[in-house]
Amino acid sequence: MKREKFSSSLAVFLATLGSAIGLGNIWRFPYIIGMNGGGAFLFVYLICVLIVGIPVMISEFFIGRKTRLNPVLAFEKLGGKKWRIVGYMGILASLLIMFFYSAVAGWVYSYTFKSLIGKFNGVTLESSRDIFINMITSPKDVILWQLTALLVVAIILMMGVKGGIERATKLLMPVLFILILICDIRALTLENSYEGIKFLFAVDFSKLKSSSILTSLGLSFFKLSLGVGTMITYASYFTDDNDLMSTSLNVALSDTLISLLAGLAIFPTVFAFKMEPSYGPGLLFITIPLIFSKLPFGNVLLFMFFLLTSIAATTAMLSLVEVSVAYLIEVKKIDRRKSVLITTIFIVLFGSLAALSVEGNVLSNVKLLGRTIFDIFDYLSSNILLPLGGILISVFVGYFARSEEVFLEMSKGNGNKNIIYIKGVLFVLKFITPILILVIFVRGLF
Ligand code: PHE
Repeated sequence: MKREKFSSSLAVFLATLGSAIGLGNIWRFPYIIGMNGGGAFLFVYLICVLIVGIPVMISEFFIGRKTRLNPVLAFEKLGGKKWRIVGYMGILASLLIMFFYSAVAGWVYSYTFKSLIGKFNGVTLESSRDIFINMITSPKDVILWQLTALLVVAIILMMGVKGGIERATKLLMPVLFILILICDIRALTLENSYEGIKFLFAVDFSKLKSSSILTSLGLSFFKLSLGVGTMITYASYFTDDNDLMSTSLNVALSDTLISLLAGLAIFPTVFAFKMEPSYGPGLLFITIPLIFSKLPFGNVLLFMFFLLTSIAATTAMLSLVEVSVAYLIEVKKIDRRKSVLITTIFIVLFGSLAALSVEGNVLSNVKLLGRTIFDIFDYLSSNILLPLGGILISVFVGYFARSEEVFLEMSKGNGNKNIIYIKGVLFVLKFITPILILVIFVRGLF
């Protein structure tokens, strides 16, 4: 059977960007920037992206395109049987992320629907909070919406790499971009919008905490979908002539840009209505409906906002689920449809436990080491498997992969013009990236 591929460099870029842009961009990134010194944190974040994020992304691209295999077989082919474990860790991490990510994606889908039917008309802070709490504590609602989100992902994946992932991201990424721009224009033309801009961008080194570097390292990993095999899997479908260096740079920068645009849609609005910017998860689900509903055409805007968030979550989930699907197809020789079905059922089984374990829902009392099921999935993936995967991937490419092969793969599509950058990347991979990640990893454990 012939292995599928993306059809062009544009398709490669949009699919990879679709993986990177997700729930993390729309609320987590702007909110963390705001709480950690605005422009000062942004500066630290960009450095982390440059010296850790981009080198690890290039490494994953190398492993994926060189072998054109799923992460398990890719590691085996390049490093021998014992390196398979890194591929398995990636599969495990991507599934753990899916368990809780799909629960939150379900909430976002539900909010898209609610705003479409005008559920937030004339909403007050009280009623907005009630709507959110009623949703997350209702077993039926959370499960139903989580299933809906997973069904959309499954249908797209069943249509294949080109017919599904490529087609969906080519259509959805531009829509996401236009929707975010419309929300931005509205937010920036509000009175007082300057306050929100200041909150996001004012450089204040005194607000930078000692933990900010660690926070931004962790954030850059999650944001850029690194350490879990998603970029290895996608790169195995890249075109032959794609320049891996420029793709990683473009994806990392565009992802950061979208996060900033999301912040520009949210914070000027929050400040114009004199609300608290530090609301965490509640910001997206409680504050946003409240303030948008007060704007002229607010309902339409609110619908657009949640629609774009649903799109972001969906395209990120495509890449997470595809890791297991590619494995089942190539290692277990199961056809694509069945592989998608098996993976989805598995995610539904464990993901529903995550959805039902949120504060106030039926499983919220089930705790392990003081953590709910939702939090355990999050902790194991974000704090343990992701950084560990990052260290192993950079060590593998820095020390174990044959450097001629790395050079050859990375100079495709740029006519050897990047030799000096490739040398730089390899240096960083050997001596900086693994050590830095090790520091976050150890800090994250305690
Ligand atoms: N990058 C996605 C986001 O920002 C999440 C993700 C993590 C996707 C890891 C794939 C792999 O929401």
